[in-house]
Amino acid sequence: MLRRLRLLTAGESHGKGLACVIEGLPAGIEIEEDYINRQLKRRQGGYGRGGRMKIEDDQVEILSGVRWGVTMGSPISLLIHNKDWKNWQQGMSTDPTFKNYIPAITRPRPGHADLAGVLKYRHRDARNVLERSSARETAMRVAAGAIARKFLSSFDMEVYSFVLSIGSVAAEDDFLFDPKSDFNSFYRLAEQSEVRCHDSEISKQMKDAIDRASAEGDTLGGHFAVVLTGAPPGLGSHIQWDLRLDARLAYAVMGIQAIKAVEIGKGLEMAKSSGSKMMDEIHHTPEEGYYRKTNYAGGIEGGMTNGMPLVIKAAMKPIPTQKRPLGSVDIITKEPFKAVYERSDICAVAAAAVIAEAMVSLIIADALLEKFGGDSMAEILENYNSYVGYLSA
Ligand SMILES: Cc1cc2nc3c(=O)[nH]c(=O)nc-3n(C[C@H](O)[C@H](O)[C@H](O)COP(=O)(O)O)c2cc1C
Repeated sequence: MLRRLRLLTAGESHGKGLACVIEGLPAGIEIEEDYINRQLKRRQGGYGRGGRMKIEDDQVEILSGVRWGVTMGSPISLLIHNKDWKNWQQGMSTDPTFKNYIPAITRPRPGHADLAGVLKYRHRDARNVLERSSARETAMRVAAGAIARKFLSSFDMEVYSFVLSIGSVAAEDDFLFDPKSDFNSFYRLAEQSEVRCHDSEISKQMKDAIDRASAEGDTLGGHFAVVLTGAPPGLGSHIQWDLRLDARLAYAVMGIQAIKAVEIGKGLEMAKSSGSKMMDEIHHTPEEGYYRKTNYAGGIEGGMTNGMPLVIKAAMKPIPTQKRPLGSVDIITKEPFKAVYERSDICAVAAAAVIAEAMVSLIIADALLEKFGGDSMAEILENYNSYVGYLSA
């Protein structure tokens, strides 16, 4: 659901590497590989990750679109080499000489794209599906999202994420709906936590829950929130279903592997409450302009930003691959079997939160470009400053 930007990612989980092209960002964004790498490192972290993240040390290579540390307005292409490729050079080779070098996967794993993918594409080897359906691909979304994030920082917009629950262990999340919250402080706490939770006591309990799940051969999912501060009112639009910003954000966050629900602001809780308790009343002072004392709407009304922080919550299902064997059916023999365990994450909610930060950054960068146009940073900033000036007049 990008309108001004275009993003295509490519690459298999155990292929040579991952690539993407992002087009539509203006000239004049200062960006360096190190900045992107810091975001990639955040995606690789989190308590309960599996062996793969220990093998990979994602480092981006900017192939085009940037000269001397500044975007030129031309398509930006990025590359991340898969370190694990050295173990898969024949098994994932493009060269037909290596056909059948490794056995076909004929046993689709429940909870994965395997079965629907082999049926849809008429494959006889589920590896042709799982190599792409794997969340390894999200490294590229984080890389592209990092550039969008850098772009947004020029407009004083900051993006944060917080893990709110893992399994049945949940942290208090009232701070999300208080527009006066110091999100940066909460974020610093979350960054120090191995589960990305702002509450250190709850973080310990979350880690214990992950340890218990691991010992029992099980896996866990959870909830997280992404908060974006500094968005001016009027991004997105009420005039058409596909222009609504809430819809575009939900699309982008739901598009992350294993995300099963997205909420804007109080979301599901709103349905249980009465109207008198859930609307954010409007206030105004000459100094502050329009403001709200609560932010249950999560910064979006009528499909548009209303000037309050954006609050997007999402639910991630438990990791499907687990040590406890799950029943499935061989696609060739049609015999039932119990799935064999392969190295896998126990819990990846913290990583999913970082990926969602990237997706939210891309959507808001896109909406900003839609509203303010422009091919260069200078031009967009002129348009933006003129609008901000009009708002405060
Ligand atoms: C960051 C991240 C890491 C993941 N790691 C694993 C993993 O190690 N093993 C696994 O079975 N699923 C993992 N998943 C979940 C699968 O990618 C996902 O459940 C699967 O592709 C099916 O997609 P769906 O649940 O969206 O239908 C991960 C997801 C994310 C977002």
